Amino acid sequence: MAKRLPKSDRRQGRLAGGLGDLYDGLFLPSLRILRPRQATARNCPQAASLTTQSKILATGIVLTAMAIVIVALWLADGAPPSPLVPNGPAQQVAIEVDPSDTGEPTPSYHQFVGHMTCAECHSEIHSVHIATPHANTFASTSESPIAQQFCGRTMSSGGKYGTYEYQCDDEGLLVDIQERRDGRLFPLEYAVGSGKHAVTFLTLLPDGAETIGVEHRMTWFRASGESGITPGQNADVPERAVDFFGRVFRGEDMRRCVSCHVTTGHIVRGRIENLTAGIHCERCHGPGKEHVQAAEDDDTAAATAAIRSKWSGADEVAMCGECHRMPDDLAPERLKRYPNSLVRFQPVGLLRSRCFTESAGRMKCTTCHDPHAPVESRSLAMQLDSCRQCHSKPTETHCAAGHSDGCIKCHMPAIELLPGISFHDHWIRVHDNDAAADGNVDDDAGHASAR
Ligand code: HEC
Ligand code: HEC
Ligand code: HEC
Ligand code: HEC
Ligand code: HEC
Ligand code: HEC
Ligand code: HEC
Repeated sequence: MAKRLPKSDRRQGRLAGGLGDLYDGLFLPSLRILRPRQATARNCPQAASLTTQSKILATGIVLTAMAIVIVALWLADGAPPSPLVPNGPAQQVAIEVDPSDTGEPTPSYHQFVGHMTCAECHSEIHSVHIATPHANTFASTSESPIAQQFCGRTMSSGGKYGTYEYQCDDEGLLVDIQERRDGRLFPLEYAVGSGKHAVTFLTLLPDGAETIGVEHRMTWFRASGESGITPGQNADVPERAVDFFGRVFRGEDMRRCVSCHVTTGHIVRGRIENLTAGIHCERCHGPGKEHVQAAEDDDTAAATAAIRSKWSGADEVAMCGECHRMPDDLAPERLKRYPNSLVRFQPVGLLRSRCFTESAGRMKCTTCHDPHAPVESRSLAMQLDSCRQCHSKPTETHCAAGHSDGCIKCHMPAIELLPGISFHDHWIRVHDNDAAADGNVDDDAGHASAR
């Protein structure tokens, strides 16, 4: 198990490699800026943002610059770090990942009240929702039980990558590579994925004026209880030092990686400010401050008007599709071919189903899903009832093939994309005998970049 070094030694470990002498006393706090604890942010976003903001003010630009120097070494692998270090004071790159992506006016962060406030009046919905994969899909590695299982473990990462050695400290998970050991530990900051199927680690690093995301090479899979190569990374070849820890995402891909797994957050120089980890009420319903005020004033009409809660079929599919993917997230060629890997993107399938296109806007995601509960909350019988809402002729013959039951297994079959991870084909249609054996397969089971 974990060879838990005494704290001072672990600091030494991080400070080794020549940097320690130079930046003694600065290196650790600077890493802390890269990786603040998020516990308070989840419970009380405003309070947390105040603390982090004052922390930044207090520690100042110098430490941020230190962090950049260190990060630059990973990025450059021995090359002089200078091109990656900005010359002047840190320029702030602010990236909104709150629901402003929906095209509506950007709601100020202060309009968000947090899901614990919603729980005061909607306790039933909240108590179910809090246990869903949505609510638990993002955490600091210090708070993720799956991440904590990595502490002290060693595992081969395949081929050129070498052997990963994991350690934990009170800020979360860190990794080193046996074959390349140089005393610098690479932090793995966030655990992405609820663990219902899988958990992948993510690190955000400032790279010059930009922030990059490093999706760690190893992913934990529930089906096997073990780790394997992160889907989509099998064919990667490492070049810079940073590549040995995983795949680098930049720009829009990096921002969306975080955005799709959180309620609010604001990426600034490799950090997420105003983070509300996981997908909670206000991600879908919009910020709730006005709604809560009106409800507290007993003005039900104003309360109802002040919160987003009614969507047309197409609007709801688009809202869910912001994360579950819409057709325009995909390359046209892939879309046309519809390989099995596309079953991962339910809106894409649903939108081309005759059930959707020929039902005059009556079909939405919530026709068959409770948006506040895990999928298992609806039994198979309930799923069949949702088909029967529209397919119930007086003769009781629902299906041209004469079946009155089992609709899903024939018309929305589950397809296993990764061992133990299946998705139901939401392109509702008449399939060939064996959908999975139709040969229309591609290798890319990753989802972080859908193209
Ligand atoms: C002080 C009590 C209170 C709080 C706190 C509260 N609500 Fe409500 N909410 C109400 C009342 C009252 C209604 C209207 C009557 C009803 O549907 O029960 C309502 C209705 C709603 C509706 C349905 C509106 C409709 O069209 O029927 C949604 C969605 C909603 N709330 C979401 C939220 C979210 C999200 C939060 C947290 C940001 C929240 N509420 C916090 C009292 C509250
Ligand atoms: C456009 C939105 C989007 C982006 C970008 C995105 N995800 Fe996801 N992620 C989802 C959705 C939706 C699911 C659930 C369905 C699925 O697994 O495809 C999911 C599931 C997961 C899971 C659980 C595994 C599973 O199959 O359920 C992990 C782990 C994960 N994402 C990590 C990441 C990481 C790391 C990145 C960025 C490097 C990323 N995601 C980028 C939307 C996104
Ligand atoms: C993934 C998106 C999503 C999240 C997260 C979410 N909701 Fe909803 N919610 C919806 C949708 C969609 C509807 C409308 C369902 C319909 O049209 O039948 C809805 C309906 C509602 C309603 C009115 C109908 C009802 O079921 O009573 C309330 C109240 C509500 N949500 C409160 C909440 C609260 C409180 C939370 C957080 C605990 C929350 N929602 C989280 C998507 C979401
Ligand atoms: C006609 C019914 C129906 C509609 C509409 C529908 N789904 Fe599903 N969905 C299902 C069924 C059935 C399952 C499998 C449930 C189970 O495993 O118990 C499922 C499963 C899922 C899953 C889990 C992964 C998988 O594919 O098995 C996700 C995510 C999902 N749906 C998202 C969506 C989204 C987003 C929409 C709207 C674009 C949507 N669904 C619309 C019936 C539907
Ligand atoms: C902010 C991004 C986002 C939005 C918006 C969103 N989802 Fe998801 N959804 C996810 C992610 C991420 C996961 C994977 C959670 C995990 O296991 O880590 C997921 C998982 C699911 C699942 C599988 C849950 C289970 O119990 O296995 C269903 C079903 C689902 N979403 C339906 C919906 C529906 C319906 C909507 C719209 C009302 C919606 N989602 C909106 C990101 C989103
Ligand atoms: C909102 C209404 C609605 C719901 C819910 C619905 N359908 Fe449909 N479906 C339609 C309409 C309309 C058509 C096109 C006319 C027809 O064939 O009846 C259709 C067509 C179909 C077709 C033929 C598709 C093709 O390409 O030829 C199948 C198969 C089907 N539905 C199965 C299902 C199953 C299985 C479910 C439940 C998981 C379901 N439908 C839920 C409305 C719906
Ligand atoms: C054992 C597999 C199976 C089951 C179970 C099944 N179907 Fe079918 N369904 C088929 C086949 C095969 C066809 C195509 C028949 C044909 O074209 O001769 C079909 C055709 C249909 C069609 C008409 C397609 C068209 O173009 O007109 C609809 C609608 C439909 N099914 C709905 C359902 C519903 C709803 C259920 C559940 C109550 C269901 N099916 C259960 C295999 C099945």
